[in-house]
This record gives sequence, structure tokens and C-alpha cells, in this order.
Amino acid sequence: MKIFNVKKEIIENKKVSSNCYRMTFESKEIACRVKPGQFLHIKCSDTYDPLLRRPISVHSIENNVIGILYKVIGRGTGLLSKKTSGDTIDVIGPLGNGFDYQLVSNCQLPILVGGGIGIAPLYFLAQRLVERGSNITVLIGADTKYNILCVDELKKLDCKVKVSTDDGSAGISGTVVDLLKNELIPANSKFKIQNAKFKIFTCGPVPMLKQVNQLASKYNVSSQVSLERQMACGVGACMGCSIKIRNPKSEIRKNKMFDYKQVCKDGPVFDIKEIAWEEM
Ligand SMILES: Cc1cc2nc3c(=O)[nH]c(=O)nc-3n(C[C@H](O)[C@H](O)[C@H](O)COP(=O)(O)OP(=O)(O)OC[C@H]3O[C@@H](n4cnc5c(N)ncnc54)[C@H](O)[C@@H]3O)c2cc1C
Ligand code: FES
Repeated sequence: MKIFNVKKEIIENKKVSSNCYRMTFESKEIACRVKPGQFLHIKCSDTYDPLLRRPISVHSIENNVIGILYKVIGRGTGLLSKKTSGDTIDVIGPLGNGFDYQLVSNCQLPILVGGGIGIAPLYFLAQRLVERGSNITVLIGADTKYNILCVDELKKLDCKVKVSTDDGSAGISGTVVDLLKNELIPANSKFKIQNAKFKIFTCGPVPMLKQVNQLASKYNVSSQVSLERQMACGVGACMGCSIKIRNPKSEIRKNKMFDYKQVCKDGPVFDIKEIAWEEM
């Protein structure tokens, strides 16, 4: 796929929670090619400090306007948050491989599971699934109600939205994995559900993803996960974002239990069964 380096004027860079911002800019080149789950590599200042770009997922596409939703973590995202409308943003993209959602049909019910800022790429996925007529459930977890993102926007898309908070200030008191359990285990049955009808798409912190993996394998639900890793080059050259992948031939090649893949080039979206979670 063709990758572009564009410098665009920022339309808006708005604070949406205590530490998250939503930024928009127009780029026809990227907007008409990018798929949900793909990411942009963003230069966070007008100088070479910081030198490295920061990977941020595409959060929304409206016509040719690209939205990103990001959490201020350190220097790079801190500098990004200081930009205002009319400033310029330097972006490389689209990068990586996105979600494989084309096969979702009426007989498969997508459940989108976002932990914290992990909801960012899932909103774009919801936009595309809705266009395909899917009946979507979105589960969103956060520490407190002030950090629950995208609920109104997802409801406007006609998604069924359920919320959990660690402190119980909104939705159920618990984690987004508790919400997922409630979806997968029908209240009136102790038996395993007919899970072929569900498909999970998830993004969030690794401990949460590990639990999603356990549930998905227990209930045999096919699942795709978007992973975050520190990245330098963003295009598969530096090996900085390598992760261990289960080696399907490990029985034969006993000394080699794992293969490696690069999150930036082979991912960031993987089949949940591929990842060697015990090594994460
Ligand atoms: C595919 C992908 C998609 C993502 N999508 C989103 C999203 O949609 N929204 C969101 O909020 N976050 C997203 N993230 C996470 C986001 O990239 C990080 O939060 C961001 O990089 C933090 O940058 P920072 O400079 O603010 O934080 P820092 O912690 O200051 O820096 C980030 C990391 O880069 C390294 N680093 C910093 N400076 C240097 C240096 N000079 N030399 C070497 N290494 C350095 C550090 O080790 C540090 O851990 C995504 C990550 C990936 C991989
Ligand atoms: S960031 Fe360089 S290989 Fe992935």
C-alpha cells in the first residue's frame, strides 16, 4: 500500500477528558486509503526534538477529515496537545495492518472491547461496521467516569454501548472484562453459548488483553487484538517493536518455541491466538 508523508493544517485540537485530546486535519490521500486499525506516525514538534515520531491510530474519518484521539503520556503527546487550529501537523501513513472485519455479517455479532484510550481505533472500526449494516456492541472500560470516551458518538452510530469503571462512578463497578463475561455468558444459562455468532475486536492495556484472550479461548470466540508497542521507525526496519508469536510448528522444531513479528509492519492487529501472551 502507498504510504504518504503529508504536512497539514490542524482543524481542531480539543481536550475531551482530563488527559485526552481529539485532533482533526484533512488529508484526502490518507483518508481514502486507511483502514480501521491502521496508524499514523506523527512528528510531535516542528524541530527534531523529540527525534522519533509517535504512533497514533486513526480514530475517525468523516469525508476526508481524519480524527485522532490521544492520551498525553510524555513529551511527544504533551507537545502534540499544545498545538492549536491553524498549526501544521507532519504525518506519515497509513501504516500497518488493520482489522479484518470484512467477513462480519448478520450472523456474526461484533463486540468491540476498549480499555481506556484503547477505544480510539475501535470507533473508526465501528464507523465502518455500521456502514456494512452490522449490529454492534461496544464495551468501554475506564478508571473513572471522567475518562470514559466516545459514548455519545458511538450511540449516535446506533451502537449498543455498555460502560464499566474501576471506581463504580459510571456503568458497572468492575472492568471491561466483567462486561465481556456478561455478554458471553447468558444470564439464564450455565452452558457455553453458541459462540460462532460473536467476533471480538479489542484494544487496551496488555493485562486487560490477556484476560480477553482467556475468555475468548474459554468460549471459543474468534478475536482480533490491536497491540501497542514502543516504535522507532514504524515501517519494519529497526526491529524495535518485535513481539513473540506462537510457533505453530513448535512440536516439530522443539528448540524454537516462538517466531517474531513486528507490531508496526505485521500488526498492530493480530489474531488473539497468535500472540505468546505469557511472553508479553
Ligand atoms: C500502533 C499504535 C497505535 C497507537 N494509537 C494510539 C492512539 O490512538 N491514542 C493514544 O493515545 N496512544 C496511542 N498509542 C500509544 C502512543 O504511541 C504513546 O502513548 C506515545 O508514543 C507516547 O509518546 P510520548 O512521547 O508522549 O511518551 P513518552 O513516554 O515520553 O515516549 C514514548 C516512548 O518512546 C520512547 N522514547 C521517547 N523519546 C525517545 C528517544 N529520544 N529515544 C528513544 N526512545 C524514546 C520512550 O521509551 C517512551 O516509552 C499507539 C501506539 C501504537 C504502537
Ligand atoms: S518500529 Fe521499527 S520495526 Fe517496528
